[in-house]
Amino acid sequence: MADTGNNDAFVAFERVQKSYDGETLVVKDLNLTLPKGEFLTMLGPSGSGKTTCLMMLAGFETATHGEIKLDGVSINNIPPHKRGIGMVFQNYALFPHMTIAENLSFPLEVRKIGKSDREAKVKRALEMVEMGAFGGRRPSQLSGGQQQRVALARALVFEPELVLMDEPLGALDKQLREKMQFEITHLAHNLGITTVYVTHDQTEALTMSDRVAVFNDGRIQQIAPPDELYESPKNSFVAQFIGENNTLEGRVKEIKNGIAVVQLDNGDLIDAKPVNVEKPGDRTLISIRPERVEFNRDRLKPDAHTLKAEVLEFIYMGDIFRTRLRVAGSDEFIIKTRNAPDQRRLQPGEQIEIGWLPEDCRALDAPQV
Ligand SMILES: Nc1ncnc2c1ncn2[C@@H]1O[C@H](COP(=O)(O)OP(=O)(O)OP(=O)(O)O)[C@@H](O)[C@H]1O
Ligand SMILES: [Mg+2]
Repeated sequence: MADTGNNDAFVAFERVQKSYDGETLVVKDLNLTLPKGEFLTMLGPSGSGKTTCLMMLAGFETATHGEIKLDGVSINNIPPHKRGIGMVFQNYALFPHMTIAENLSFPLEVRKIGKSDREAKVKRALEMVEMGAFGGRRPSQLSGGQQQRVALARALVFEPELVLMDEPLGALDKQLREKMQFEITHLAHNLGITTVYVTHDQTEALTMSDRVAVFNDGRIQQIAPPDELYESPKNSFVAQFIGENNTLEGRVKEIKNGIAVVQLDNGDLIDAKPVNVEKPGDRTLISIRPERVEFNRDRLKPDAHTLKAEVLEFIYMGDIFRTRLRVAGSDEFIIKTRNAPDQRRLQPGEQIEIGWLPEDCRALDAPQV
């Protein structure tokens, strides 16, 4: 991923590597720049290196190789408390022996801010997260969600330009989580804060972020705005990690006029957009979103390749219908259709024909064996 050389970079990782044991690299050649005010999310499976990247940016870990810059200046040798970064970590607990107000006042005292100024800032930060009435309580007297909001206020109270959040909503129930997602993005955007957010919840990443960096095995697999990540995954890891996808394996038969004809392992032919396959003979994983599969023949080009499918299961989900099919040897092929007055409900046992526009189906790298 080369996205260095950006003059507007507020945060920059340049060729950063990290090893804890001197042997294995858990972060491999990371190049990443964030412009000021961006909300960037690092998304990826457990162990892919997300927290390590955040810890290096915060200054709690040092990079084994490469440089990290803040506003154009290398921060490799600046200690954490001098980096002016706000942090919310999942287990970055509030101080239990202090009241909520004292918890918030602490980062200001450290920065030698006078008493009256401190009080005004604490009040404002608590009001911002709608916790104004709780300043006198101790953390143990608050619910989990309220503690999370206080942690957020504490990270923002000294008006940092950069905030790092590592799974800050991990402990919350769905409803509170969604409310907080909304609050965090609004606060960040309204205050113009640059944010690096870590999660392994893809919905959270897609809904909150300006851009998402998908991590796997110490590398960024793709970095893009949410819609681009969903619509145009660059490889089979991203395609399978973001959203739901139907996949079928096969071999490229030909690539002509920007369309790959793929012979599936059962012999059937289908059309796909070649993404990271190169030539006839290449193994490929074809990938198609459930909402882009068409079973109405007249909505496809007359010469489109189609596949035979058997309906296995029809699930009524209110706004959509979810139908499971047997296709080319797979029993897990899903199609989603909108519940509209003219939409037919497929019946289990029914034999249908499915197809798609080639641009909606991607020929990606085959999984490693
Ligand atoms: N202090 C440490 N000492 C040794 N190895 C570590 C240390 N911290 C993390 N690792 C290893 O580095 C790799 C990356 O870990 P990291 O915590 O960055 O992953 P993560 O993407 O944040 O995962 P999760 O989603 O589970 O939080 C893992 O293999 C982990 O075991
Ligand atoms: Mg982590």
